[in-house]
Amino acid sequence: MEEKIKNLEENFYKDLSLAKTIVELENIRVKYLGRKSELVYLFSELKNLSQNDKVIYGKKLNSLKENFTNSLNEKIKNIPQEEDYLDLTLPSISPKRAGLHILTIVTNKICNIFKELGFKIVEGNEIEDEWHNFTALNIPLEHPSRDAFDTFYLDIERDKNKFLLRSHTSPSQIRVMENYKVPFKIISPGRVYRPDKVDASHSFMFHQIEGFAVDKDLNFSHLKGVLLYFAKEFFSKDINLRFRPHFFPFTEPSAEVDISCFFCKNTQKEKCTVCKGKGFIEILGCGMIHPNVLENCKIDSKKYKGFAFGMGVDRIAMLKYRIDDIRLFYENDIKFLEQF
Ligand code: DAH
Repeated sequence: MEEKIKNLEENFYKDLSLAKTIVELENIRVKYLGRKSELVYLFSELKNLSQNDKVIYGKKLNSLKENFTNSLNEKIKNIPQEEDYLDLTLPSISPKRAGLHILTIVTNKICNIFKELGFKIVEGNEIEDEWHNFTALNIPLEHPSRDAFDTFYLDIERDKNKFLLRSHTSPSQIRVMENYKVPFKIISPGRVYRPDKVDASHSFMFHQIEGFAVDKDLNFSHLKGVLLYFAKEFFSKDINLRFRPHFFPFTEPSAEVDISCFFCKNTQKEKCTVCKGKGFIEILGCGMIHPNVLENCKIDSKKYKGFAFGMGVDRIAMLKYRIDDIRLFYENDIKFLEQF
């Protein structure tokens, strides 16, 4: 027994002196103090000794166990914390949580306000044809917006109908009128494309939201009511709208709509970076759907009336969050995106 204890002690201290990491020290603990260790075996041997030896070696084994434990703990304390040392008491690094893009957030906010008014969401097609993008919308053949400078044409043509990347979301009106039964109230968000030179306020791809309704007794006051409700919900309860007469081929009468400056409330004059002292900011175009458009979609314009409006999501997001460069939306810089 004496010999075995001596060997065990020697081996333990030799192993201990070689160990450099917490993992190695844990292995030594298992080897010398674990359930299957030599020490446990020697304890079990005690029963074969004389009464006297039992007392002597029992004490020796107990103090050996105590020394092993103390020496191990001492060494662990002095080991610098290594990479392989797992301290489960440390707080964890929380994973980065992904979020929605600011343009998605703004689109959802706008759509939700119209949903409260009973509008249904219908997505149109990003690849359209001339009929849906122009002709059915009462845009004449010679209209400049049909130029290749203003529209991305695709190399595809079917029955003299050229295909293109839609230059606005208004073709959704035609898609719905062709496929749905009147009456309806629709909101249609999506990407649009124009071959514009990219700068702080232009991009060759941006986002619009189209809204329109067709029913028996619709008039301009319904349009005004819907837009005022939207603007108050989206910007601020105390804003007003200003309707300026305008021209769009697909609506008659047509208007451009301004909101009173939600930022300076018309108090800062030229100093206001949002309205630049004008007190009003243009936010959308609208009007009563032109009877030709209804007829192009086989809707009786004597019986049915419609209103429509279209707004630029990028522009509205820039106004609301005071972002001064549209390119920020498309550069995917996390430092920008994280702010929303
Ligand atoms: N489609 C127009 C544009 O892209 C926006 C627009 C104006 C849509 C008036 C409408 C409308 O529905 O009534 O500039």
